[in-house]
Amino acid sequence: MSVVEVNGPAPYEVRIGSGVVKGLERLTTGSRVALIHPASVEFMAAPLRGRLDRVIDIEVPDAEAAKTSGVLAGCWDRLAEAGMTRGDVVVGLGGGATTDLAGFVAATWMRGIRLIQVPTTVLGMADAAVGGKTGINITAGKNLVGAFHEPAAVLCDTDALNHLPIREMRSGMAEIVKCGFINDPRILSIVEADPATVLDPESDAFAEVLTRAVGVKASVVATDLTESTSRGDKVGRERLNYGHTLAHAIEAHQHFTWRHGEADAVGMIFAAELSSRELGLSRQTVDRTREIMAGLGLPTTFEGTAWPQLRATMNLDKKTRGTMLRFVGISAPGKVSMIEGPAEEELQECFATLRP
Ligand code: GLY
Repeated sequence: MSVVEVNGPAPYEVRIGSGVVKGLERLTTGSRVALIHPASVEFMAAPLRGRLDRVIDIEVPDAEAAKTSGVLAGCWDRLAEAGMTRGDVVVGLGGGATTDLAGFVAATWMRGIRLIQVPTTVLGMADAAVGGKTGINITAGKNLVGAFHEPAAVLCDTDALNHLPIREMRSGMAEIVKCGFINDPRILSIVEADPATVLDPESDAFAEVLTRAVGVKASVVATDLTESTSRGDKVGRERLNYGHTLAHAIEAHQHFTWRHGEADAVGMIFAAELSSRELGLSRQTVDRTREIMAGLGLPTTFEGTAWPQLRATMNLDKKTRGTMLRFVGISAPGKVSMIEGPAEEELQECFATLRP
């Protein structure tokens, strides 16, 4: 097992390893537990219901279908029926969408109660469950309603990943690779050395890159929890958005049929191309980006006709200020700088390199 500490205003631990979910019993002693989970992780929910003292079991829809105001209100009603008070705890058991919803339930119930996240996907472990971003979607867009509410603990039980389809493993690995490009290049060399092994959740290589990625996330959110606006090479939490400006537009364009990490893979190639033009990133690192994504079986191309629609969607990116697009770039692996208001022709040129 490994432990990563998140040393923000209210420090907490992220425990990573086989069987760590058993620690939930000790963390919740004496409290009622609202266990929020989709049916797909019943194999983990059932033993927890047996072991924990007083559980209010709340089953929610899978994936993004959980992040609606209707599902949220249903959770509040269940907490009210059960008489949950400030001494009680919400547990989010599932992928990133479930932990986002559970986090927002905890953030809003009685203006904030204790939250423990138990992510069951690589994406949830490496990103969503750590750092206190919580929320739901509305018709106008993803994650437009939410709050920062940090968990009291995060339990990343890697046994959960044995049930994960390979497509989900690959998608989560894109987020881990992102941490390699922005902060910890050692992740990149481990992935390059043996991409097939790193996708095996029982391998030492996987445990190492996951722990390193959680370490990156922990150090970033500890110093900039609420995502201040970055300038030049002073880049806080926004750095976690490397590749995401195009990726979010691709996800919307594909009506969320692409996994988040699949869109991130293409988005990081675009961001590397842009970084090469704006920040002098070496062509070797741009090629390396493509090779790493291809080696993991992630997409590396996107249809050229989609540009006008993708470009329009990027105007609504959360990093945009006024009409100025802002991208996270790198001048070398581990060296991040903001790219603000790049020329339209340059963006088109970068996008053109993605043609199949
Ligand atoms: N997923 C990006 C962040 O937590 O800031």
